[in-house]
Amino acid sequence: MPDYSQDVLRLHALRKSYNIGLPNETEVLHGIDLEIGRTDFAALIGPSGSGKSTLLNVIGLLDKPTAGELYLLGQPTSTMDDEARTTLRGNAIGFVFQFHHLIQAFTAIENVLMPLMLAHGKPSQPAIVHARALLAAVGLEKFAGTKPNQLSGGQQQRVAIARALITEPALLLADEPTGNLDTHTAAEVFDLFRRFNREFGCAVLLVTHDPRLSVACDRTINLVDGVIVSDALNKT
Ligand SMILES: Nc1ncnc2c1ncn2[C@@H]1O[C@H](COP(=O)(O)OP(=O)(O)O)[C@@H](O)[C@H]1O
Ligand SMILES: [Mg+2]
Repeated sequence: MPDYSQDVLRLHALRKSYNIGLPNETEVLHGIDLEIGRTDFAALIGPSGSGKSTLLNVIGLLDKPTAGELYLLGQPTSTMDDEARTTLRGNAIGFVFQFHHLIQAFTAIENVLMPLMLAHGKPSQPAIVHARALLAAVGLEKFAGTKPNQLSGGQQQRVAIARALITEPALLLADEPTGNLDTHTAAEVFDLFRRFNREFGCAVLLVTHDPRLSVACDRTINLVDGVIVSDALNKT
């Protein structure tokens, strides 16, 4: 059972290697200890190639660590089978990528409903109402029936954020979600994460290259060469 009294996320001595057993085997994360509280709003920064995406994919249960333990909502994940990991991911995690990965054949609201449809099939009426409310919350109530290619880049990323929130995740992960957007649109999309952190109380861990965005988070975690070199609350 998820334990909601715990940190949403706890990493203990977590390591990740690629190409295990091959001549080009490389360890990318070298023993990460990290705790994310239930209402944290944290930026993950660091140079290109430092392991930010690898860390986010492992945290999001999209990839497995090579060693160490990852606790999500108090549950150790290393001994879980794939089905248990998929279920926990679906219940606990929302993921927003740099490129939105929306399905072009589906409308905005169908894309938002996709995580529920993958888990439960045909969406219920309350789920559809919820999806409409999320589209309204990201300023897209008029675009529920619109296909992604009819939307601007910023609008598409808003649909992706609504999709990430449809399962009411405890932890929202975002990998350079504004990296593909102009400064103004990036600021608007960032404000949505801020708002959802406050209104829905979901923890947010956001990878960004933009120092203007990382300072606007409550906490900055700096990853260099697969090691956390600093982790501090930002001055307000
Ligand atoms: N699937 C993979 N197979 C092998 N090496 C990888 C893979 N993904 C990433 N890497 C390597 O791991 C290191 C960290 O990459 P990444 O996590 O993408 O860093 P960041 O997101 O900080 O730019 C890089 O050296 C990258 O080349
Ligand atoms: Mg990356």
